Amino acid sequence: MSTPVPVSEPNVDRDRVIIFDTTLRDGEQCPGATLNVEEKLIIARQLAQLGVDVIEAGFAIASPGDFEAVYKIAETVGTADGPIICSLARAIKADIKAAAEAIKPAAHGRIHTFISTSDIHLEYQLRKSRPEVLAIASEMVAYAKSFCDDVEFSPMDATRTDPEYLYEVLEAAIAAGATTLNIPDTVGYSTPEEFGALIRGIKQNVRGIDRTIISVHGHNDLGLATANFLEAVKNGARQLECAINGIGERAGNTALEEIVMALHVRRQYFNPFLGRPVESVAPLTKIDTTQIHKTSRLVSKFTGMLVQANKAIVGANAFAHESGIHQDGILKNKLTYEIMDAQSIGLTENQLVLGKHSGRHAFGARLKELGFALTELELNSAFVRFKEVADKKKEITDWDLEALVNDEIRQA
Ligand code: KIV
Ligand code: ZN
Repeated sequence: MSTPVPVSEPNVDRDRVIIFDTTLRDGEQCPGATLNVEEKLIIARQLAQLGVDVIEAGFAIASPGDFEAVYKIAETVGTADGPIICSLARAIKADIKAAAEAIKPAAHGRIHTFISTSDIHLEYQLRKSRPEVLAIASEMVAYAKSFCDDVEFSPMDATRTDPEYLYEVLEAAIAAGATTLNIPDTVGYSTPEEFGALIRGIKQNVRGIDRTIISVHGHNDLGLATANFLEAVKNGARQLECAINGIGERAGNTALEEIVMALHVRRQYFNPFLGRPVESVAPLTKIDTTQIHKTSRLVSKFTGMLVQANKAIVGANAFAHESGIHQDGILKNKLTYEIMDAQSIGLTENQLVLGKHSGRHAFGARLKELGFALTELELNSAFVRFKEVADKKKEITDWDLEALVNDEIRQA
């Protein structure tokens, strides 16, 4: 093991959560989502607008294009008041050197190095023993530290690693100078309770852990990525690694918009876990939530990855109401069926989608918006016609409505 170096306190407020965006690295590992340098640069600029704390801009050694993207993002987005620009590197000297070169132009750069620690990965992938991997982790963190103060270390497949061995590796990484310790649920295997307990165990058993930031990295194979993160925050994690629209390997990474909005909408529930007064309404992250929708559209357009209509927060239906009862409630008071404002994620308004479940109230409100001033009698008979049409069509457009009302007026 290398000689331990003193670790300085990371300069962050412990009562807020750091958002580490990996759309351009793990997100791009999604089949078919490859981005060119220019597209990555445009997305990185938007991520800075969104207010993420860290941009994992790529895996510098992976290809000349990835190196160039990290370098250019470091140069243009990595300004003094901009986000930390990070490159991934295996626990291999050549990787770490390439990462260090690529992030050089950034005012705040980070090297993120990783090695697997689960027995299954050690046996079949690395073909190395536990002591060998421990020594490599320590040596490579120290090597990364020789280029950059800000070093993140990830024991890959942490959630399937023997916890006692995990603690040992993390302690060695801290002693070698790691400032952020990231706990990846690489295969999306963990459950919320288990993940929370793992973070709690790390906080209680790893010497020096309080001088570092505990980070978590999630995959959504069981659809539990966001729930796992919320438990991690409750147990001491202060950095969350996520991707826009939840893109990434297999079922994807934890979706940035989900975890950010969960912490935003339920901030009073989470306040005590971050040592804040319950009643505080101050945001828990630095994200400008009104940039979420725009960022989601941009990433979807460049990656070609469509967002499912019922996707939480950014799906086309996330703020759309079709049923009559819901539409009636929304028109009277939005809080009846909405837990967050469409405007809070950058949409102009919620949508009342007219279909066969819609009620007279929503129908009348839409006609008013379209400029029709109908009498009570006209409205009643137009509504009967509307229900007939709605039985035959999935969704009624404004054109349908105009045609329908004009017919009604002609017949009157
Ligand atoms: O899923 C994973 O383990 C990773 C690491 C490189 C952090 O993406
Ligand atoms: Zn990952």
